[in-house]
Amino acid sequence: MAEQPRHILRAEQFADVELLGDLFERSDYFAENLKRGDGRQSLLGKYAGRIMFNMFYEPSTRTSLSFQTAAARLGMQIINTENGKEFSSVSKGETLEDTARVLAGNRPDVIVLRHYEDGAAEVMADYTRGIPVINAGDGKNEHPTQALLDLYTINREFGRTNNLRIIVGGDIEGGRTAKSLVRLLGLRESNSIELVAPERNNASPELKKEWEALPADIDYTYEFDETTLKSADVVYWTRTQTERGNGHVDPNFVLACRHLGSMPLHGIIMHPLPRNGDLLPEIDNDPRTRYFQQSANGVPTRMALLDYVLGR
Ligand code: NCD
Repeated sequence: MAEQPRHILRAEQFADVELLGDLFERSDYFAENLKRGDGRQSLLGKYAGRIMFNMFYEPSTRTSLSFQTAAARLGMQIINTENGKEFSSVSKGETLEDTARVLAGNRPDVIVLRHYEDGAAEVMADYTRGIPVINAGDGKNEHPTQALLDLYTINREFGRTNNLRIIVGGDIEGGRTAKSLVRLLGLRESNSIELVAPERNNASPELKKEWEALPADIDYTYEFDETTLKSADVVYWTRTQTERGNGHVDPNFVLACRHLGSMPLHGIIMHPLPRNGDLLPEIDNDPRTRYFQQSANGVPTRMALLDYVLGR
């Protein structure tokens, strides 16, 4: 098995199938224990007294709360900065390098970072003198822990993360969840991935070039109708990243009940959430939807990821 990562910065760090399988097993272990009172109790001693800095320089509901819940379930102490862009020293002009040195000086056991700049977590990891950094989403770049909980969700459903047909729709260019997902699922030769988005939101020429090197079969589609979902095992929809200047949701790419007729009955519908007019609530009662379960899977998956970086 590949070495356990010290920092979690990119989805591709989990390219090794054995490491990924081990992550799924650990996440299952935590999920099982969370279901039972005595199980929950027993986990509280695991990392009691360890400290997690939860540094969020961009808005978040799911990711921040699920990291905090994961840490609390492991008995950790959490120190939280929300709205870091306004309330931290960044507003006084402090560089990320200096912030990283200062955070490291306080000797937390792990730093979880969400940041508006691409590559921010990598920069921080260079300056924390070995204190683990977990990337909770950096700009338009990556959201590795989301991709890992997405794969955990897929694996629970199908018992595999290969030999699948995956349709990823919405905003590929602006969405870091879609990118991290493609970077992981694209590593399996037997996967077929179709990226469905209007031209301005579909993969940029740079991304296409990067993904050309991936072994999976990757196609790009600029139009959307129900035939697109034919033979899909996974339909993964995303919102348009309006705050990153990527426009507003194109009405022709809104996922609605009328698209689901040709989707196989065994398929599942996923979304990293939040949605914003891109996936209609009328779909919620379809038995194939998994987005709320997917979001809940964030807690055991992030417990497993904390366990990797703390338990090395
Ligand atoms: C995503 C994010 O922040 O990248 N949300 C999440 O973490 N579940 C998706 C988004 O903001 O659209």
